[in-house]
Amino acid sequence: MAVSPYAAAALFLLAAIAAVESIGVNYGTMGDNLPPPAQVAQFLKDKTTIDRIKIFDANPDILRAFSGTGILVAVTVPNGEIPSLTDPGNARRWVAANIQPFHPQTKINYILVGNEILHWGPQNLVDNLVSAMRSLHTALSLSGITDIIVTTAHSLGILESSEPPSLAKFRPGWDKGVLAPVLQFHRETKSPFMVNPYPYFGYSPEHANFSVFGSNKGLFDRYTKRTYGNMFDMLMDAVYISMKKLGYGDVEIAIGETGWSSLGESFERPRCSVENAAAYNGGLVRKYNSGRGTPLMPRKRLETYIFGLFNENLKSGPLSEKNFGLFRPDFTPAYDAGIMRVGSTAAPVQPIKRPTPAQDGKKWCVPKAEASDSELQKNIDYVCSQGVDCGPIQPGGACFDPNTVRSHASFVMNAFYQREGRHDFNCNFSGSGLITSTDPSTGNCKYLA
Ligand SMILES: *[C@@H]1O[C@H](CO)[C@@H](O)[C@H](O)[C@H]1NC(C)=O
Ligand SMILES: *[C@@H]1O[C@H](CO)[C@@H](O)[C@H](O)[C@H]1NC(C)=O
Repeated sequence: MAVSPYAAAALFLLAAIAAVESIGVNYGTMGDNLPPPAQVAQFLKDKTTIDRIKIFDANPDILRAFSGTGILVAVTVPNGEIPSLTDPGNARRWVAANIQPFHPQTKINYILVGNEILHWGPQNLVDNLVSAMRSLHTALSLSGITDIIVTTAHSLGILESSEPPSLAKFRPGWDKGVLAPVLQFHRETKSPFMVNPYPYFGYSPEHANFSVFGSNKGLFDRYTKRTYGNMFDMLMDAVYISMKKLGYGDVEIAIGETGWSSLGESFERPRCSVENAAAYNGGLVRKYNSGRGTPLMPRKRLETYIFGLFNENLKSGPLSEKNFGLFRPDFTPAYDAGIMRVGSTAAPVQPIKRPTPAQDGKKWCVPKAEASDSELQKNIDYVCSQGVDCGPIQPGGACFDPNTVRSHASFVMNAFYQREGRHDFNCNFSGSGLITSTDPSTGNCKYLA
């Protein structure tokens, strides 16, 4: 189609004026005080400029809640399921069970195969990663789905060094062995290489502003003659250079996670503060919306998912881990990060109904979002061998549907927790259980309390 130069110029102007006001966010659910997904979806759509979310599983409640919102949803295959998904039949079944019931009403844009596999291992996951990515990609096309991209997110532990960016390269051993095949897959399927840069971890009080997009002298890279005004650009160019050195400079890059904690233990200050979190995430959002890119990737807007949406009170580790949220569980902003729609700068106008409150002290035990089906199957086998009544999850039982390992495990893990006396450790299940004050019962399937 021929477009007159004037029309083209006008279109360009329009595009420039309608500058993107959007960003992605990771929606983690490790909290016992978080609002229900339907309220989250409504809130994001009405009040914020967040146009895409990333979740750490394929939680059907979340997928259902975002249906029809237009908000993109990136789902994650739990790490433990990677080996089984190398099998084409299992990959087809995974897509049929987790994607097809929701897509395209819910705009699923990515399937992430595991989370930071190289960083966390174990080796059999690393060895099976690319094969699982390939079979999921094939399974999607065999299912007639062409608009969902398969990728996986890497921690920056994949880099041997990042400073200066020109000398960066991937860790020997991972470069040709694992990352080259991953990048080859991305090249063939036109999917982005996803990384999780955290200037947060490189913070030092002396160079605080370099980490949080504040004014500073910058870092000069004498090989490329570029000056870096912030650590984020430095890390992203380090990734780009490393990819180029391996022969994959043409593959797109996306950012799966980045963020800053607004509150920490005494030994985590001054890094963790509202000021730093606001400066970092605010700077990141402004940079994204400006489309400025990095010194070596100018004018490239890298798709970005901030970590995270809510403060999550059940995350393990120091206080900082629980305070990466842009919002508190009651939807009030933890600070101004420039993501509220105009006229929505404060807490939402509508009072938001909180989930069934725990005023009566009732608690339930459910699987953690990141628990794999194989871990959960072990929990079922264990609990049902301990004399807990597993009849309700058998065919014909009130909790048979939905007929998934996760849903069955949830019911019996809770039954066990209640019977044993509701001690926190009764819901541990080798770290795969989570205590919640929201009643998980649905329909006729009544959870014990
Ligand atoms: C850090 O950045 C802020 C905002 O850009 C600026 O006001 C402040 O003076 C900077 N601090 C230092 C030590 O350079
Ligand atoms: C839960 O189990 C894990 C692994 O078995 C263990 O490291 C952790 O200490 C346990 N936590 C509690 C609260 O018992």
